[in-house]
Amino acid sequence: MVWVHEAMLEDVGEIILDTETIQKRVAVLAETISRDYEGKNLIMICVLKGSMFFLADLIRKISIPVTLDFIGISSYGEATRTSGVVKITKDLEENIEGLDVLIVEDIVDTGLTLSYLINALKLRKPASIRICCLLDKTAHRLVDIPIDYRGFYIEDSFVVGYGLDFQDKYRHLPFVCVLKQEVIERQRKKL
Ligand code: IMP
Repeated sequence: MVWVHEAMLEDVGEIILDTETIQKRVAVLAETISRDYEGKNLIMICVLKGSMFFLADLIRKISIPVTLDFIGISSYGEATRTSGVVKITKDLEENIEGLDVLIVEDIVDTGLTLSYLINALKLRKPASIRICCLLDKTAHRLVDIPIDYRGFYIEDSFVVGYGLDFQDKYRHLPFVCVLKQEVIERQRKKL
């Protein structure tokens, strides 16, 4: 069992994906990606902040040459549903023209964020763009997103941990879980 501070566990509801399950799946994804991109100019793009742990684990298991860049994008305010407003909060540092871009995302919900990002990055003329997401939550999908590498499908619930946040907290939990309902209600009342 991975160590988590006891105070943090008080807020945790059901654990949807434990650390071992996540790590095993990440290893499989890394193997597939390494095979698919053999001989290509792979650049992995970490979508901040939620994908940081997923990307960090994934890239360390990639067995071919790869470069890395970060992009900050936000679609959610303080709520648990998308606002539909998408903006780049931190741009890439690298020129991706001619490169094989793999966008690494934590979760696809409505698909609005990725759809915006894919269109924005296409304008920069990469050789290819593919999507790798840890969690695929299809219940509220508004835009069809071609997900090339998927960690897990999940049911319609708001999850935190392994990079995912609620009001910017809980990212450091080493598993993916739901929060107790009273925690969400308590936080909402504070707003
Ligand atoms: P979309 O634009 O609706 O697909 O939302 C994608 C973004 O919303 C993700 O990158 C997350 O930041 C956030 N998000 C969606 N669902 C969840 C969730 O269950 N927990 C935490 N963040 C979420």
